[in-house]
Amino acid sequence: MKETELDWKNLSFSYYPSKYNVRCTFKDGKWGDIEVSDSEYIPIHIAATCLHYGQEIFEGLKAFRGKDGKIRIFRMEENAKRFIRSAEGIKMEPLPIDKFCEMVKKVVKLNEELVPPYGSGASLYIRPLEIGVSAKVGVSPSSEYLVIMLVTPVGPYFKTGFKPTKVCISREYDRVAPKGTGSLKFGGNYGASLLAGEKAHEMGYSVMLYLDPKEKKYIDECGAANFFAIKDNTYVTPSSQSILPSITNMSLKQLAKDLGLKVEERNITIEELPTFEEASACGTAAVCSPISQVDDLDTGTSYTFGKPDEAGPITTALYNKLRAIQLGEEPDDHNWCEILD
Ligand code: PLP
Ligand code: COI
Repeated sequence: MKETELDWKNLSFSYYPSKYNVRCTFKDGKWGDIEVSDSEYIPIHIAATCLHYGQEIFEGLKAFRGKDGKIRIFRMEENAKRFIRSAEGIKMEPLPIDKFCEMVKKVVKLNEELVPPYGSGASLYIRPLEIGVSAKVGVSPSSEYLVIMLVTPVGPYFKTGFKPTKVCISREYDRVAPKGTGSLKFGGNYGASLLAGEKAHEMGYSVMLYLDPKEKKYIDECGAANFFAIKDNTYVTPSSQSILPSITNMSLKQLAKDLGLKVEERNITIEELPTFEEASACGTAAVCSPISQVDDLDTGTSYTFGKPDEAGPITTALYNKLRAIQLGEEPDDHNWCEILD
């Protein structure tokens, strides 16, 4: 199929319509066949549980056009596993891993022309979502579910791309509760982050760096991305019950080990911030987004890392390594990419 003519190099992280999406329904105790749709809309019952009681989960993963022209999908099985965990966490029906992967491959293949060309810096973002669709007014889980997978070509999540960005801390906002849904990719967490996110934007920051919701002592995560820092040849990232276990972070931890760094997953206090040589947000959308400055709005303290307009050397090495694997420029030693036929 021919690639669509888009301004690939200047894409932002926004929705661009695709020709097809794929869908699968859970009804009468079983998942049905995968269906292909060319509509961007869904008919939904006015009493569906997703509309009233927030039964909605989602995922985010990417497909890349490699140096060899082939399409690579990054760590799809990990997203499938997390989709199951999220479903179970809010009493939804888990979609089997095989079905998840079949749907991902199908929606990418159907929209092949939207996979950005090699060298553009853009990728195809795949967004699986699941909603409870049974009509209910009592607060209880749905018995019927709909999974939809849509795709859209995207560029960088933060406007600055791989250039360092500024983030802020404010104790006024929690994204999630201490033993709540923070480790699930549950729509409600994102609704709860919108006010804080907009406040951060209004003040000129890319995103809010959340503290742990219990003690407000430790770094939790960075908007819709995990946080990591580098010091003394060590990759340090928060261990927390209230953050989403990021597949990008998991991959970077492995790449950091491959590069000979030590990896520490542990509590990170705010007091430790000044000791970091480099800091970064990481995620599927964010990839690695270096952080040049953290402003604590409550204490008026600013923490800076490295040069204000240049990513640090280790963050750069990790980013380059991850990209090279995703684009088929270097061997995929950990078998992270599924190559589409
Ligand atoms: N944290 C949150 C809250 C997210 O929404 C995301 C995005 O998926 C991440 C972290 C990064 O996770 P991943 O690397 O799996 O995309
Ligand atoms: C992702 O990185 O895949 C995300 O889901 C982040 C955000 C766009 C919600």
